[in-house]
Amino acid sequence: MIRDAIPADISAITAIYNDVIANSNAIYREDPVEEAERLNWFNEKKRVGFPVVVAEIDGQVVGYGVYGSFRFGEGYNDTVEHSVHVGANHRGQGIGKKILEDLINRARIENRHNMVAAIDSTNETSISLHAAYGFVETARMPQIAKKHGKFLDLVLMQLTL
Ligand SMILES: CC(C)(COP(=O)(O)OP(=O)(O)OC[C@H]1O[C@@H](n2cnc3c(N)ncnc32)[C@H](O)[C@@H]1OP(=O)(O)O)[C@@H](O)C(=O)NCCC(=O)NCCS
Repeated sequence: MIRDAIPADISAITAIYNDVIANSNAIYREDPVEEAERLNWFNEKKRVGFPVVVAEIDGQVVGYGVYGSFRFGEGYNDTVEHSVHVGANHRGQGIGKKILEDLINRARIENRHNMVAAIDSTNETSISLHAAYGFVETARMPQIAKKHGKFLDLVLMQLTL
């Protein structure tokens, strides 16, 4: 089941987020965050009216998705940047697809014009996932970020709705 996130989901969302920080280059951060940080993030998304959704199986939150502003300024209002993260024990079971489909549906309903995914260039799973839904690479930014002392390349994949 994909549903809107509620504050009670923040604990599970934080655990997934911190695991992705610790064990991948999918998020360009190095230190784990507190639940309070993710609660502020969630509250800010809700205040502005952006979706935060979770995938739930048997009452357990196993993944989440979100979108928000791509860049500051009203000229970007028709473009959203999204993220999808699935818990390590639940990957490869179609959950990422379900979350991405839900976000695309919401962006269509909101009459957004573009969705952008900012993906580390080594993240073949996410690149394949997005390509399967029609996202195409529209930018590749060499050495745009650094994690654990190593520069990383970022790929922007865009779906024009
Ligand atoms: C990337 C991620 C969201 C995908 O979610 P998922 O639930 O594991 O993926 P799904 O089972 O829905 O698979 C979706 C598609 O991804 C691709 N995929 C899945 N696992 C893959 C793998 N091991 N290698 C390559 N492609 C893979 C395939 O295209 C697959 O579609 P298919 O099953 O029709 O072939 C998830 O693996 C994840 O959270 N990873 C860590 C954090 C992350 O990278 N987030 C994305 C940041 S941009």
